[in-house]
Amino acid sequence: MFRHSIAAVTLWLASPATASYAFYVGKNLTSDGSVLVGGTGEEVSSHWLQLFPAKDHPPNATISVGVTEAASFPGELIQIPQANHTFRYLSMEYSDYEGFPAPLTNGGLNEKGVTVRDVWADNRQELLDMTPNPQHGLQYSDLARIVMERATTARHGVEIIGDLIAKYGESTYGGNSHLIADKNEGWVVWEMAGGAKIWAAQRLGPNDIKVLYPGYIEDFPTNFTGHPDFMGSSNIVSFAIEQGWWNETSGKPFNIFNVYGPQDPRYKARDGGYKFMSQAALEDATREMVPVTEEKLIQRVRDHRIADDEAGYGQVVSLRADIDPDMLRIWIAPTGSVSAPFVPWWLGVQSIPPEFGEHRYLTTGASSSFLNPDYELQEASIFAGRVFKRVLYYMCSDPNKYMPTVTEMLTSFESQSRDQVSGWVEKAAQALIDAGDRNATQNLLTYYSHSRASAALELGHTLNSALDGYIKLTGQWRSPIGNQINDSGEGNETVNCLVGYDPDQPKDRQ
Ligand SMILES: *[C@@H]1O[C@H](CO)[C@@H](O)[C@H](O)[C@H]1NC(C)=O
Ligand SMILES: *[C@@H]1O[C@H](CO)[C@@H](O)[C@H](O)[C@H]1NC(C)=O
Ligand SMILES: *[C@@H]1O[C@H](CO)[C@@H](O)[C@H](O)[C@H]1NC(C)=O
Ligand SMILES: *[C@@H]1O[C@H](CO)[C@@H](O)[C@H](O)[C@H]1NC(C)=O
Ligand SMILES: *[C@@H]1O[C@H](CO)[C@@H](O)[C@H](O)[C@H]1NC(C)=O
Ligand SMILES: *[C@@H]1O[C@H](CO)[C@@H](O)[C@H](O)[C@H]1NC(C)=O
Ligand SMILES: *[C@@H]1O[C@H](CO)[C@@H](O)[C@H](O)[C@H]1NC(C)=O
Ligand SMILES: *[C@@H]1O[C@H](CO)[C@@H](O)[C@H](O)[C@H]1NC(C)=O
Repeated sequence: MFRHSIAAVTLWLASPATASYAFYVGKNLTSDGSVLVGGTGEEVSSHWLQLFPAKDHPPNATISVGVTEAASFPGELIQIPQANHTFRYLSMEYSDYEGFPAPLTNGGLNEKGVTVRDVWADNRQELLDMTPNPQHGLQYSDLARIVMERATTARHGVEIIGDLIAKYGESTYGGNSHLIADKNEGWVVWEMAGGAKIWAAQRLGPNDIKVLYPGYIEDFPTNFTGHPDFMGSSNIVSFAIEQGWWNETSGKPFNIFNVYGPQDPRYKARDGGYKFMSQAALEDATREMVPVTEEKLIQRVRDHRIADDEAGYGQVVSLRADIDPDMLRIWIAPTGSVSAPFVPWWLGVQSIPPEFGEHRYLTTGASSSFLNPDYELQEASIFAGRVFKRVLYYMCSDPNKYMPTVTEMLTSFESQSRDQVSGWVEKAAQALIDAGDRNATQNLLTYYSHSRASAALELGHTLNSALDGYIKLTGQWRSPIGNQINDSGEGNETVNCLVGYDPDQPKDRQ
């Protein structure tokens, strides 16, 4: 199932050490008419699941946004007004990216059925060089979080981002994009580095499949005022003309990637040359799966050519009309889904088990400070992220041997969850809603998600015990040869389940 005859791409260009990817599948291409969104965040940091209840805020409440002098492109935090009400949402949080202030998010799902994913999208060097020092304005995580807190539709999310950038600016790490979706459509928003408040957005419709890896937008109308499928900053065209990057007389279409993307001939809008699959190859592989289901999108997100040690979690959500907010469901794997099972969480869930909450493993500052006693029991609990990282490291030590079995166990676990979810959990929850018992609905959903999370953890322990025992008993244990526990930095191979650089060849351990 994993084998597609796509040539291995081994170019690593000026890519950030971490990246992320997002999938969008339009509602005419899915089996039940849902919009489907999946992806991951690629950050070294630990990731943990967090619930954010809806909240009212006092009239003059503010929030702190932006980056500090510790960021790769230094800046200063600013205060901006908080909304008077923020929506309930679920997010995988993390603590560390390019010196940005914790906690951070790439997005998640809110009670209005709006989902957000954040994906890097490099800009041309001139824009990076133009970025003011210090820079001011909202960074990618602020924007993702505010969209979840305030957006009632995907389009609304884009408008919110546009308004906030116009008012306060954007703090960059070199260019970034967001995928925002609701039950009808998706939008790609590309926020440009350079401090000139430039952004562009393109609508994704019912017949579109889009993979951001990195984010991209191609042909764009120069007059998009009132256009249903495009939005952008008012200077998106004029700035390009001023810089001499594009003009009307050149006869070339106004193409956002060509004008604002990296000016490297090896790097094309739909083929960034990152890792082993281009956006185009991933889009084609997804299109081959039409009609797409959650199960199939999970298979895409889990693909070992893109899901590796860098993938901080896996996320798949389907959005359709007429869902009670409590019944909005998102499937989340607690670390890279190549080695971790997806567990269903609903917005009606009232708490997260401690095992899936924040722990110190790979969390910023952990190695230079003792534990805050307030967290002693939290830290005493097992950390799901660590459990499934262990599965990854055992499994990828000999992927030909272990991966098929582990994958089959993960997918069998998920099939069982899916059968239960559609067989009785959601029917029972809906019946309780219809009977007017909101509290029992939420208790049921909480109970099921916790039970499934606990069973997932047991599966992780079982896999680790079996792999550890097998590897040691059969003489496969290898101690490290070097003395450097970290990878050697940007651009180097991380732990993955690829077999050499070509997924079809035996793994080259040189
Ligand atoms: C849905 O897709 C089919 C082809 O797969 C196409 O014929 C049809 O027009 C599409 N419907 C809409 C509403 O776009
Ligand atoms: C909110 O700010 C306004 C203007 O800055 C001020 O007049 C008002 O007293 C503040 N209200 C509260 C509740 O702090
Ligand atoms: C909160 O904001 C909404 C939308 O902007 C507005 O309709 C409402 O009156 C505000 N409520 C308060 C208490 O300020
Ligand atoms: C640009 O768009 C506006 C609003 O849709 C429209 O009124 C105008 O005619 C368009 N201009 C051109 C040159 O197409
Ligand atoms: C317009 O663009 C073309 C090709 O990109 C370039 O050769 C030409 O000098 C530009 N014209 C102006 C007026 O900038
Ligand atoms: C809701 O359920 C919780 C947990 O069972 C219970 O403690 C609480 O009393 C219930 N609240 C109401 C209003 O029924
Ligand atoms: C590993 O990375 C951290 C953070 O960059 C650094 O402080 C530490 O010195 C590195 N350790 C090794 C062994 O390279
Ligand atoms: C990858 O790591 C090796 C040492 O293990 C180093 O020689 C090489 O320069 C690194 N490559 C990149 C692109 O950082």
